[in-house]
Formats: sequence, structure tokens, C-alpha cells
Amino acid sequence: MAEYSYSPTGEGFPLPSQEDYSKEFGRLEEVVNRQRNLNREIVVVMGLGFVGAVMAAVVADAQDGKGNPIKFVIGMQRPSPRSFWKIPLINRGLSPISTEDPEVALMIDRCVKEKRTLAATFTYDALKFADVVIIDVQCDYLKESLGNVTNGQAEMKALEESFEIVASHISPNTLVLIETTVAPGTTEQIAYPIMRKVFRKRGINTDPLLAHSFERVMPGKNYVASIRDFWRVCSGVNEEATRRVVKFLNEVINTKEFPLTVLDRPIESETAKIVENSFRATILAFLDEWSIFAEQNGVDLIKVINAIKVRPTHSNIIFPGPGIGGYCLPKDGGLGVWAYRHIHGFEDDIFKITTAAIDINDTRSLHVAQLTRDALRNMGRPIASAEILVLGASYREDVGDTRYSGSELIVRRLTEMGTEIRVHDPYVLHWWEFEKQDEYPTSSHSLKRFFRGQERLKDLRVEQNLETGLQGVDAVILAVRHKQYLNLDPDEVVKNSGGPIAVIDCFGILDDERIRRYFELGCEVKGLGRGHVKRIKDHVQEARERMLLKMSGEAVRGAETEFRKANP
Ligand SMILES: NC(=O)c1ccc[n+]([C@@H]2O[C@H](COP(=O)([O-])OP(=O)(O)OC[C@H]3O[C@@H](n4cnc5c(N)ncnc54)[C@H](O)[C@@H]3O)[C@@H](O)[C@H]2O)c1
Repeated sequence: MAEYSYSPTGEGFPLPSQEDYSKEFGRLEEVVNRQRNLNREIVVVMGLGFVGAVMAAVVADAQDGKGNPIKFVIGMQRPSPRSFWKIPLINRGLSPISTEDPEVALMIDRCVKEKRTLAATFTYDALKFADVVIIDVQCDYLKESLGNVTNGQAEMKALEESFEIVASHISPNTLVLIETTVAPGTTEQIAYPIMRKVFRKRGINTDPLLAHSFERVMPGKNYVASIRDFWRVCSGVNEEATRRVVKFLNEVINTKEFPLTVLDRPIESETAKIVENSFRATILAFLDEWSIFAEQNGVDLIKVINAIKVRPTHSNIIFPGPGIGGYCLPKDGGLGVWAYRHIHGFEDDIFKITTAAIDINDTRSLHVAQLTRDALRNMGRPIASAEILVLGASYREDVGDTRYSGSELIVRRLTEMGTEIRVHDPYVLHWWEFEKQDEYPTSSHSLKRFFRGQERLKDLRVEQNLETGLQGVDAVILAVRHKQYLNLDPDEVVKNSGGPIAVIDCFGILDDERIRRYFELGCEVKGLGRGHVKRIKDHVQEARERMLLKMSGEAVRGAETEFRKANP
């Protein structure tokens, strides 16, 4: 029986059978011949994930000075049950990614249906047609413990296989551009020797034309612009590879306004990516201790950050939210640490800050469970039987990417503490980290293994209706700054939940007015880095006491008047 791959909306697509491969190759051959006659270069993008799917569209949309398309792009995705559905979707002109940037869907639709410069396939044979191959497959870093990044390893197997597959299909003149974030040294010391060996076996005596240029894509409101209209760094293994990668990027990306930086060797481009992301992870981790300081000393860290940010030299100080998720920041430093020992052979332990930052970021969200416990305790409700709604499953605002999101650990810890969890996210239909927790990201690497009592989380489904999600909850955790959560009206929230609740703000979402209103409605509020809520609570309490005093004074005076009237 055919195995199926299901899209997020539940449409099932049968995985290709053996005979589908030869048919698919025939289909591609015809299309490619037509495209070559139009003088278009054939570009194969390997891996149609968050990066590859949109990069493929950006390249397919590229045109010359006269407005004519210059590339034909074949997006190539392996036909796994988890990802195959992306291929038929793209071939219908539909985006496989749910995002706030309308340009993603428009561009894919335009390139597939109007310009006819984009198609997707499952066969590696597509590589045979390529003038350029862009590698956008993942390179995971598998951690063996929670909060200790040094105890982990780069998952090189899939990437090494990809290099071998590419080398055994491409023509000698094909430019191979690695965009995957890799352990520094990978292009020259892993990809190059693997591909050269395959070339020699095929009787090809030239060297592979390999280059590295990392992606700085930010899935979100400016998804497309973060690929096309942004600065790039690149480097090739030799002069010809460098010349080709520079030419290619100049053709497909807005390098006029965002000039390229060309580095001498791929290890420099690879290191640039790792340092860039480790820097970001570090400035975020640094605020974790100040966030605790703020909570314990009546300080609102959000206001402190905004006060500091006005200094141009400090404008990139940023509040860390409930931990730092996403695919990149939790792992990229680890790739560097791993490379130092396992690619370059050093024994000493030079990494202190990079590793500490990742460990802090990886465990920060656990504190949210403590705040929730304390808020419920203040309301006289035990956490163990509480119903809690988590608002936001993804790792950042306005996208549907749940990889390593802080929300996952919040859910896991609170489940361990006995709570019933509900989750709402307008961008996420399936939270695979739970639904497929026995096989995803790999069978042995779900974060599930660090917590007890996680079995029932397989049945966790993402609620799409906020009102329904709120009904009867004891606590709401504002975990992600999705635009749908920024202006929630406290009166509505409390009305929909059926009474006072605990509200936990993980991301500086609530302004003081809303915090005050929640207290007035009998709720309890706590927040990461938001020590000043206690002050607001005290003010509301004092105002309430004053009012009660006034009311009881009036009541006494009223009773006296009545008494005098009755006893003149
Ligand atoms: N997501 C981001 O925001 C971001 C930003 C900058 C850089 N990056 C880097 O870009 C790379 C890709 O990230 P992503 O977020 O797109 O990952 P992803 O997991 O969304 O996509 C990878 C895709 O490659 C496919 N794939 C894996 N092996 C394959 C093979 N042999 N042949 C064909 N397809 C294959 C997978 O099925 C998947 O669809 C990573 O190195 C990542 O670190 C990601």
C-alpha cells in the first residue's frame, strides 16, 4: 500500500513509486530543454525547507535588465513522509510555508504559473541538468543533555550523503553553492574531498567548483527581502569557484544596494555565520540574569532596555523572551565547538562564552513554569490540577516555525508538574514536536526525554479559536509576540475564560494599563523580567482598600442617619 505524506491542512499525497521516477525524469527533461532554448540557466535547489523554498522562488524570479527571466529553478526535495507534500503544493503554485510576508505566496504563484520558472521534484536525477546547485538541506547539532551544548555532536551523515549524491549526478562545470550553516571547515575539509573522490571515480579530472555563502533569512514579515535585499558573504574553494559564485549572486540578489563581501576561503564565510549567530545568542543570554534581577527588585526590564536602546552604540540590546529558539541560534555555536575538535583536531577547551550562552538560552523558558506555579499559588490554586493555555507555539512572532521554541519546554515542564495544557497559535496547524514526539527531530532526540509524564502530549492539538481555547482556563501564558496577542483586551480575556485567571507575560506584551486592569479584574500577573508588576498590584490593592473603606464609611454614616430618623 502506498505511503502518504500529509500537508499541514491534512491533504494526503502518495509517496512516489519506482515507476514515478522515470516518468518524472522524462517530464523534467522536456521542461529543461524548453528552458535551455530560452537561454535560461538551470538551478537546482536541494532541500525545500524554510530557506530553500523561498530561495528557490527568489532565484526563479530573477530577471535581466529587460525584465526577462534568466533562471529556471528546480526545487528538489527528498520524498519523506514529513516533507514530500511540499512538492505537489509548489507545483500548484502554493507556498509550503505559512508566513506574514505576503510576497512569499505571490512570488511562488507568479514563478510557477505566470513566468513558469519554478518547478519542484523529488528525483535526484534533476541534478544532472544543473548549471548551479544550491544546497539548503539541514545540518543538525544533536545535544545529549539539556543545558550542556558541549555534550553533543554535528549530524554530518545526511550532509555528507548529499555531497556524494550531488557529485555523482552533476556535470564537472556545475557550481555547487552550500548555503547550509555548517561546522567551519566543512566545505574544504569534508565536502571537497568527498566530491573530488566521486569525480575521480566518474573519470572527471577537474576539481569540484564549490562555494559557501550562508543565508541570513529571517522568516517573518520581511521573509523575501531578508534573502533578496540583504548583504551576503561568500567564498569559493578556488578562483573559478569564487568567480562563479560572485557572478551568480550578482544575478539573483540585490547586490547593487546590498554589496557582497567576498572572503578568501570558505572557512571564513562559514566562521562568519557561526560567529554572527553566537554573538546574537550571547547578547540575548546575557540578559537572563538581569531578567531575574529585575523580577526580584521591582524593575521592569522592558523599560530598562528601551531606555538603553536609545544609545546608538547599544541599539541591538534585545529582550530574550522565553528562551531563544528557532533552528539556528540554539545550535550554530555548537557547530563551531564541534568543528574545533572533530574537524580541526584540537584538544583544548577554548569556548567559554559561546557555550554558556547557548546553555542559558536553552533553559531560560523553564523559569516560566515557576512563574506560573507562583501566580496560581497566589490565587490559591494548585498547579497540579490547573488548565493552562499557552498563546504561541512558534519560536518567534508572526511565523509558523516551532523548532526549539521556548514554548515547547514550557509545555513539557508544566505537563511534568501535572497541568493540563492547551495551545493556540494562528500560524501553526500541527505542533510536530509533540504530535510526532517519538520520531521528531529524530527518534532519539525529542526534548521529551528530559521530562517525565510526557506520553499524553502526543495528543496535543493546536487550537485555532482563541475564545474556545480560553474557556475555563486557570492561567494564560503569553509566550510569543504574535500580532494577534499584542492588544488582547483584559476584560474580554477574563470574560471568555469565565473568571479571574493567572496571566504570565513572557515577552513584554502587556503594557502597565493592561497589567493594572488584570489586577482590577481579580487576576494575578507575572512576567519574565517584569518585577514592577508587584508595584501595580499593590496600587490596585491600595485603591481597592481605600474604596472599601470609603464604602464602609458611607455605609456607617447611612446607617447612623437611618437610626436617627427611626429614633428622633
Ligand atoms: N530557518 C532559518 O531561519 C535559517 C536562517 C539562516 C540559515 N539557516 C540554515 O539553512 C539551512 C536550512 O535550514 P531550513 O530552516 O531551511 O531547514 P529545513 O529543515 O526547513 O529544510 C531542509 C529541507 O531539506 C530537505 N532535505 C534534507 N536532506 C535532503 C536531501 N538529501 N535531498 C533533498 N532534500 C533534503 C528536508 O526534507 C527539508 O525539507 C540550515 O543549515 C539552517 O541552519 C536557516
